[in-house]
Amino acid sequence: MKINGKAYRTIWLAPDGWSVEIIDQTRLPHELVIVLLKSPEDAARAILSMQVRGAPLIGATAAYGLAMAIRDDASDEAIDRAIEFLAKQRPTAINLRWALEEMRRAVQNLPREERVAAAYRRAAEICDEDVETCRRIGEHGKKLIEDIAARKGRGEKVEVLTHCNAGWLACVDWGTATSPIYQAHDAGVPLHVWVDETRPRNQGAALTAYELGSHGVPHTIVVDNAGGHLMQHGRVDLVIVGTDRVAANGDVANKIGTYLKALAAKDNGVPFYVALPHSTIDWTLQEGLSIPIEERSGDEVLKMPGRLPDGRVVTVEIAAPGSLAGNPAFDVTPARLVTGFITERGVGPATREGLLFLYPERDKS
Ligand code: MRU
Repeated sequence: MKINGKAYRTIWLAPDGWSVEIIDQTRLPHELVIVLLKSPEDAARAILSMQVRGAPLIGATAAYGLAMAIRDDASDEAIDRAIEFLAKQRPTAINLRWALEEMRRAVQNLPREERVAAAYRRAAEICDEDVETCRRIGEHGKKLIEDIAARKGRGEKVEVLTHCNAGWLACVDWGTATSPIYQAHDAGVPLHVWVDETRPRNQGAALTAYELGSHGVPHTIVVDNAGGHLMQHGRVDLVIVGTDRVAANGDVANKIGTYLKALAAKDNGVPFYVALPHSTIDWTLQEGLSIPIEERSGDEVLKMPGRLPDGRVVTVEIAAPGSLAGNPAFDVTPARLVTGFITERGVGPATREGLLFLYPERDKS
């Protein structure tokens, strides 16, 4: 997608052909800063510090991190060590482990001298496949928005609510939850997006609003607690969110607060869709409450970064000194609250059967 008219992906190979460049998302929306990652340690640090974040993008970054590790040492033992090191940086998004296992499969049966080239090839494919997957998610999801537009008629705007950032900044391009929005918007469907600010790290206010604005999509930032009110007053036609891990029964882990949006949507008869690529499904987990939930520093709750009128970006304290803060970063929305999944293979029910219908190759029974 474009920033100031220039097309970007969130990660790309640097001119040297082996290191990678990323957009530092901790600096957005105030500054567009490109950072060079030159080692697996750099990649791990970028994931942990959330310079890169969003389930598909941390998988893509880890893939290149592993390629850099293999460049240093292509032995089986070193590859195992690097995979475990990169995988432990963030626990909830399964795409991280998925991408690393894809990388392992791409190199494990090759002689050592062929492993570096194969690793870089697979990392590039993981990125390209993510772009195409997200594009297709958008094609399928766009139809849902078009149907609502047709029902509303008279050029009335379709009102979409989204939480966190499951946009192109969370992926390699397009986004999952935002891809249907971009494609409907580009096709001329009138729409407007309610963007949850998404405390504590403000991915909605800082990232989703930034990317929607860069693309010219009408949007309004609301505080996280506004969604129920907007739905009660008929001001939301559908909710679309992304996810970090979907269990085999259709339960969905996503950014903290997603569950409350799903409850409010159910109570108000608002369709609640989850957009996801196949790499986000954890077929080994039978239900969502066993998904590991990342606990992050309480500082993210107690402090907030922002820009001063003179342009300086500073962090301020927002609570009285001495208070403790808890910071679970994700929650689990039970499948029963999810109207449907928007995947690269189409839209289907959020059930075990629905997932197996979309991905029949996973049905081993
Ligand atoms: O903590 P973050 O910013 O990595 O959380 C991101 C989300 O919760 C996204 O909704 C999810 O990763 C899906 S991204 C397509």
